[in-house]
Amino acid sequence: MSPIVASATRDRLRIAIQKSGRLAEPARALLSACGLSWRESRDKLFCYGESLPVDLLLVRDDDIPGLIADGVCDFGVVGRNELNEQAAARARFGLSDAYREMHALGFGGCRLMLAIPETWDWQGPAQLEGMRIATSYPAILSDWLEKQGVRASVVELSGSVEIAPKLGTADLICDLVSSGATLLANQLKPVETLLESEAVLAGPARELEDQRADLAAMLLRRMEGVLKLKDSKLLMFRADRDTVPALLRLLPDADPPTYLAAETGGPLSLQTMCHGLVTWQRLEELERAGAQGLMVLSVERSLA
Ligand code: PRP
Ligand code: ZN
Repeated sequence: MSPIVASATRDRLRIAIQKSGRLAEPARALLSACGLSWRESRDKLFCYGESLPVDLLLVRDDDIPGLIADGVCDFGVVGRNELNEQAAARARFGLSDAYREMHALGFGGCRLMLAIPETWDWQGPAQLEGMRIATSYPAILSDWLEKQGVRASVVELSGSVEIAPKLGTADLICDLVSSGATLLANQLKPVETLLESEAVLAGPARELEDQRADLAAMLLRRMEGVLKLKDSKLLMFRADRDTVPALLRLLPDADPPTYLAAETGGPLSLQTMCHGLVTWQRLEELERAGAQGLMVLSVERSLA
């Protein structure tokens, strides 16, 4: 097993992902879809890349931005909430940017929200003057409060934030909301969104310079390909020439079609990549508008 060291030059790329938790599985699935595979070590903290010189480090998600800042890892799959919080904290300390968001990944969606006791009326941010707000995101919250021109005290908690109003340690909270079940269970209601979050690929603020640069470019290109195809399907059908314009109007989310050879006078054969959901209802509509022999195909890989 390679030693885990931060060196100025390395010929292998290192990506940090969550060891366990909400982003762990989808992060692995995405990287596998990009053609990466690993030999797992017994302690499962370091996975040696087999198909490409790209290794995985399995860590706590709040460690990921720091690992990138220190050059221990080149990339990380982490929530935007965590990345932005640590970036905001660095900025508040007067430190320079150490990492950047390279790509949104379309999973792990949630919102960082202010939530108040159910029984309160919400009249807007000015109402927060002098209040105590519990959060695990003190830097984002402090920046937001300053922008609103509101003075409130930020009570930093590392977990169980939602219980703080009941315990009397804060008046309201600023926490992640996904289904809303946690707020509901604690008689809180969401009132303001501070950040729309999802999993992102984070990378260093500076460009990589050695052999890792080419590897990183290839990985990003593959990732673009995988993400673009996520909801895409290849649609194939036949249609008489005069029905084609109406059919294409029903496919505003599709690429310009490719026309396959047609026998003279016969219907045209078309294929097009559709980037929105292709439901049964859409297929039936297309059929009514003149499409024949409709087929929906999954696309495995594309460099388009
Ligand atoms: C987040 C957040 C809430 C919960 C909200 O916690 O802090 O507790 O999810 O989700 P819901 O709206 O679907 O109920 P997370 O699961 O990330 O764990 P942690 O708070 O222990 O870090
Ligand atoms: Zn929580």
